[in-house]
This record gives sequence, structure tokens and C-alpha cells, in this order.
Amino acid sequence: MRNRPPDMAGARGLFISFEGIDGSGKSTQARMLAEALRALGHTVHLTREPGGSAGAEDIRRLVLEGDPDRWSPETEILLFTAARRDHLEKTIRPALARGEVVITDRFADSTRMYQGIRRGSGTDLRVMVDDLHARMIGVEPDLTVLIDIDAATGHSRAVARAGAEQRFEDMGSEMQARMRDGFLALAQTEPRFAVINGARDPETIAADVLATALAKLA
Ligand code: ADP
Ligand code: TYD
Repeated sequence: MRNRPPDMAGARGLFISFEGIDGSGKSTQARMLAEALRALGHTVHLTREPGGSAGAEDIRRLVLEGDPDRWSPETEILLFTAARRDHLEKTIRPALARGEVVITDRFADSTRMYQGIRRGSGTDLRVMVDDLHARMIGVEPDLTVLIDIDAATGHSRAVARAGAEQRFEDMGSEMQARMRDGFLALAQTEPRFAVINGARDPETIAADVLATALAKLA
């Protein structure tokens, strides 16, 4: 984990996040990486956001189900960050301290993208996201795997899989395209990112992801 705060000193594990637009194949690849690393003898904790701890899963239901206009953008930022703080305290930090590999399906970059650039509110919300992150979370993954796919493909995959958590999937292809561009731009500025082409069969993608993770573990 980068930028370890004092209470994280001595954490020995590796912290990996998966990011990308809805339907990009993050969950599939996070699961496949966990299985591959376990087969190689690593102890892996596979988790997700929003969620990953009991309190954060409660917040997940509040934020992903129900009326899409229920929360203001600012309240949404607070809810996602509150969920992340609980996830960090209860799940991520203890697992890293035990020396495990933590793989999370989404982390703070999702808030930077989804809350930071949504609704045309521009830089102000992004600044708010980064500010709150610095104060309340203060850590970044060692490796962020960005599964990159075009918005139309991602959208059709996400719609095909639609369930109760429709909140953000209803945003449509145009917003997903902006999100994709935002993720790619962020990846250019942050060395922790590995951008992986998600428009291939799952096994080929998984081989690339595993090679990237093993390079970090070495
Ligand atoms: P995400 O977590 O990014 O939303 P998922 O892993 O849940 O994406 O995948 C979304 C849908 O697309 C699922 O139905 C999944 O089976 C399918 N899928 C995942 N990876 C691929 C792939 N490489 N090619 C085709 N379909 C895929
Ligand atoms: P997820 O279950 O990963 O959805 P998907 O599998 O479709 O990618 O995440 C649920 C939704 O929550 C997703 O549309 C993105 C959104 N989200 C945010 O808006 N902000 C956040 O900080 C996080 C973690 C997720």
C-alpha cells in the first residue's frame, strides 16, 4: 500500500484494485486473479466496493438501490467515502497486516470518476473527492488494474446483467464514454496503473493481469 499512514507501518501484503467502467469485466478478472494467486500459494482476500465490510455493505444498499435522485452529489461522495473508510478499517488494513494479497473490485478511483465527473459539475466535485480522500482514506493501492473497454460494449454487457443495483448503469453510453476517458487520463498520471485491453476473451486478459500482479509481488 502506497503512502502508508503510521498505523499501516509494517503492513506486508500487496494491495491491488480493479477499475473500469460498468461491464468492463472487473469482477470476472478480480475473481480469476484471486484464483490464480491462490493456486500459486498466496493468501488472497477478494473484496469489493462499495462494500467489503458489514457496515460498508449496509451503505452499498443505501447508495445503489432506490430512487437515483435520492442523494445529492455531495452526499453521495460522503457515503462512498464512509463506506471506504469502514472497508479500510475492518477489512483491508487487517488483511494487509497479516501479509495477505488484497484484491478489491473498485476503490477510490471509482469515486474520482463517478462522483468527480458526473452531472457536468466539473472540477469542484473532483477537488472535493480528492480532499476527502486525503483526509479520510490517505492510501492508494500498490497496483491498479484498469480493464479498458469501449463504452458501448461495457454498457451492453452491464444491461444484459441488470439487477436491483441499477443506479449508475442507467447513466447510458455517453456518460460511460466520459468515464472511460477519465480513467485513461488518470492512468497516464499515476504509475500504479496497468491498463489492460478488456476486449478479448477472459483467459487472455487474465494471463496479462496475472503477469502484471506477479511482477509487483516479485
Ligand atoms: P464489471 O465487474 O466490470 O461490471 P463483470 O465481470 O461483471 O464486469 O462482467 C460483465 C458481464 O460481461 C458479465 O456477464 C460477464 O460474464 C461478461 N464478461 C466478462 N468478461 C468478459 C469478456 N472478456 N468477454 C465477454 N464477456 C465478458
Ligand atoms: P459495481 O458493483 O462494481 O458495478 P459494476 O459491476 O456494474 O461495475 O459498482 C456498483 C456501482 O457503484 C457502479 O455503477 C459504480 C458505482 N460506484 C460509484 O459511483 N462510486 C464509487 O466510489 C464506487 C466504489 C462505485
